[in-house]
Amino acid sequence: MTRIAIMNQKGGVGKTTTALNLSAAIYRCGGNSMMLDMDPQAHLTSAHPAPVNNSEASLFGFYQNNLPLNQLLIEWDNVGKLICSHRELIKVETSFGKGPSILNRLKIGLSDLESDQPGLVTLIDSSPNLGVLTLSAIFAADLVIIPISSDFLSINGAKKIEHTLNALEKVLKKRVERRYLLTKYDKRRQMSSQVFNIAKTYFGEDVLDLVISENVDLAKSINEGKDIFSYNSKCTGALNYSELYQHLLSQQLI
Ligand SMILES: Nc1ncnc2c1ncn2[C@@H]1O[C@H](COP(=O)(O)OP(=O)(O)OP(=O)(O)O)[C@@H](O)[C@H]1O
Ligand SMILES: [Mg+2]
Repeated sequence: MTRIAIMNQKGGVGKTTTALNLSAAIYRCGGNSMMLDMDPQAHLTSAHPAPVNNSEASLFGFYQNNLPLNQLLIEWDNVGKLICSHRELIKVETSFGKGPSILNRLKIGLSDLESDQPGLVTLIDSSPNLGVLTLSAIFAADLVIIPISSDFLSINGAKKIEHTLNALEKVLKKRVERRYLLTKYDKRRQMSSQVFNIAKTYFGEDVLDLVISENVDLAKSINEGKDIFSYNSKCTGALNYSELYQHLLSQQLI
């Protein structure tokens, strides 16, 4: 069982793209993968060909009505399972308090779900906002992946997450395992290698040497409700996400 939270306080860095395509990479190798859309913007959910659109059947039903997570699962062809988000989820930020009981709730809900889902890998797509939902994802996670799109601003978002992860060490009584993943990498652009080097300076060995290249097929595929392997299994994006999965496997992070 592994839970991977994907987060960066900067928007548009490739969090949702990484959740979808890492899930698909796991699924096509025979793994049991599930995506949890924790972003009230619901971008991942809206990419699904037939998302749930009532809040009760979304992750909000878990928070609002104590529904078990296994009642909220829907299938996504060639990608795995999904628990949808809904705009109402924003209420968790404002109306459910901020104490340990709400922050630990997702972790407990996932443990219950995993008891009858052997080998489940959960990919949590977080919002760029560091509120109750994103903190709950950190509380539940075995590994945090921080995508950094190859521009300077997304380094700042990553530094904020690093700071939060370090600050939470005392509360969680462990160092949260983390990996920084360069996305939208263009080897012809000097800025891409500069951002990679800056990331190495700040985050050292936690920066993955493999990168996700800028690849228009990654943008087109999600627009069509497809993962990259179903859309174009030979493109660079497919190769990169497959490499990411193989690397996490080889490091026993999955
Ligand atoms: N490697 C890539 N190459 C080209 N386009 C990409 C790549 N990764 C993501 N994109 C595109 O960049 C945009 C932002 O990506 P995505 O939605 O995954 O980011 P995000 O971090 O989840 O954003 P948000 O913070 O708004 O949730 C999307 O249009 C997506 O299709
Ligand atoms: Mg997103």
